[in-house]
Amino acid sequence: MRLENNISLKDFNTFGMEVSAAKFVAVEAVEDVREVIQLKEKNILILGGGSNILFTKNFEGLVIKNNLKGIEKIKETATHIWVKAMSGEVWHNLVLHCIENGFGGIENLSLIPGTVGAAPIQNIGAYGVEIKDVLEEVEVMNMESGELKTFNNTDCKFGYRDSIFKYQSKGKYFVISVTLKLSLNPEINISYGAITDVLKAKNIINPSIKDVSEAVCEIRLSKLPNPTEIGNAGSFFKNPEVEKSVYNELKKLNPTMPGYEVDSTKIKIPAGWLIEQCGWKGKRIGNTGSHAKQALVLVNYGGATGMEIQQLSKEIQESVFSKFGVRIEAEVNVL
Ligand code: EPU
Repeated sequence: MRLENNISLKDFNTFGMEVSAAKFVAVEAVEDVREVIQLKEKNILILGGGSNILFTKNFEGLVIKNNLKGIEKIKETATHIWVKAMSGEVWHNLVLHCIENGFGGIENLSLIPGTVGAAPIQNIGAYGVEIKDVLEEVEVMNMESGELKTFNNTDCKFGYRDSIFKYQSKGKYFVISVTLKLSLNPEINISYGAITDVLKAKNIINPSIKDVSEAVCEIRLSKLPNPTEIGNAGSFFKNPEVEKSVYNELKKLNPTMPGYEVDSTKIKIPAGWLIEQCGWKGKRIGNTGSHAKQALVLVNYGGATGMEIQQLSKEIQESVFSKFGVRIEAEVNVL
């Protein structure tokens, strides 16, 4: 383990922001994490894939790059398998591992950028599935005492792109590993429209988890910009939830407005639709913009600063609010 000073973070954030960290250390083992904690550094940022972060300035504290690796089977019954993955594993590599071995449950979450450790923090989700649907437990290390603790699914208090690690316990723990309960007789979930269309176009009638994964990859690659070509952090905003009565009023004025029922009182409106209606889709301002194929994704065409992206995000929020009276919140962590 080597503590370094003044390290560029450009290659460690998918927006490609040219910022630096005053101190930087990469951890390769659980013992390294414990050693870092003993440094008693006050200002710490744990970095996984850097795919959900917007740096608006240099980071003046210590960045811990998580390189904890390993995937193992810990238990198996006739119907299920429990797979434990270390938090520094690339999420999509875990998905591929599970598909190769016939373990079902996370195929819809194919190609989500980032690491295993970040997945429960924001309860990653796509195409009708969230990690909370298969998560058994999260093992964490207390950032003050170095003690290990296990959170079960209920303890994590999962919500839409939300968990206890984002508010109540923010900054308190380092995620060490995640255990998933996966199915050996996978039930396919293709309720999300676009997947069915892709499978139909390929004449696949009884899709395997591999077919579903490939369909998801195809959809994502067709809509979402590749960060190695155009800097971005996926969806910049969360989809806002509004009361049904509010949605019904808005729908009267905007008959094409999509909406998905969350529960008996709330409707989720796709933020991408709201942003597109305000004329932002594909619009470029300097080196920033809203992506041409998915308005919810803000991009850095090269050389943009975090402040410029933040400014664009504020203008988008304001125009959505003034047109629809709906507030959209950032999904990405802005630092
Ligand atoms: N839409 C538009 N214009 C756009 C984009 C979207 O009108 O430019 C409307 C369309 O009606 C479309 C609907 O929004 O049918 C939904 O769009 P999409 O399927 O692309 O999903 P999303 O709600 O925009 C969410 C997640 C994505 C995830 C997809 C697929 C959030 C904030 N984002 O996006 O997650 O991949 O669903 O399940 O919930 C991410 O979190 O970084 C991310 C990419």
